Amino acid sequence: MTDDLRGPLVAPSLLAADAGRLADQAALVIDAGARMLHIDVMDGHFVPPLALGPQVVRGLRDSGAHLEVHLMVERPERTQIADFAAAGAGTIIIHHEATPHVDYALQAIRAAGCLAGLAVTPSTPVEVFREVDVDVALLMTVNPGWGGQRFLPGSLEKLRRLRQIVGPDVEIEVDGGVDVTTAGLVAAAGATRFVAGTAVFGAPDPQAAFLEISAIVGD
Ligand code: DX5
Ligand code: ZN
Repeated sequence: MTDDLRGPLVAPSLLAADAGRLADQAALVIDAGARMLHIDVMDGHFVPPLALGPQVVRGLRDSGAHLEVHLMVERPERTQIADFAAAGAGTIIIHHEATPHVDYALQAIRAAGCLAGLAVTPSTPVEVFREVDVDVALLMTVNPGWGGQRFLPGSLEKLRRLRQIVGPDVEIEVDGGVDVTTAGLVAAAGATRFVAGTAVFGAPDPQAAFLEISAIVGD
């Protein structure tokens, strides 16, 4: 992983952006200093909603930001990993709960030339990270599927355990309900990468909101 992808790093989630002006919204946060964009993909099965496909990644591949794709899809090893890698993803994150072949899928991500991440939902024990080799460990701090939910406070204790398990070199990402109130708490508990959707794009001034959260976490 290159140094510019090392945390602390705030990754705005485009799920909360104005979908009719996606490129403009991306440019806004990149101008404010965002080095990474978080792109949520939902298949209507693993999580009920549908959201964002490889076309969106392809459309943003020249944006200048590293594109991190969070695959909330069942059996991502079948086609999605290859599709999103070809579209321009830099990091691909799969869910532990979405496939019986986690190790195989993580290897497929790296073979496709991307950094590999594994996500767990709030009910999955962080101990699963003992069994995998990842560049980024994503702890969902809400139940996946929707933006704008409230941060689950039990995540803080899980985060501390996760940091002990993965050691100092793996990026620990938090996703869900990260805002000016919770960012400092998750940073203190060991997170180094902070996804923020509503807190950035739902704010009256997304650039100011991005900078405020970045300052809290030391990005
Ligand atoms: C939820 C997604 C998140 C979402 C976070 O399933 O994985 O990335 O965009 O949204 P906020 O920051 O609004 O909680
Ligand atoms: Zn996400």
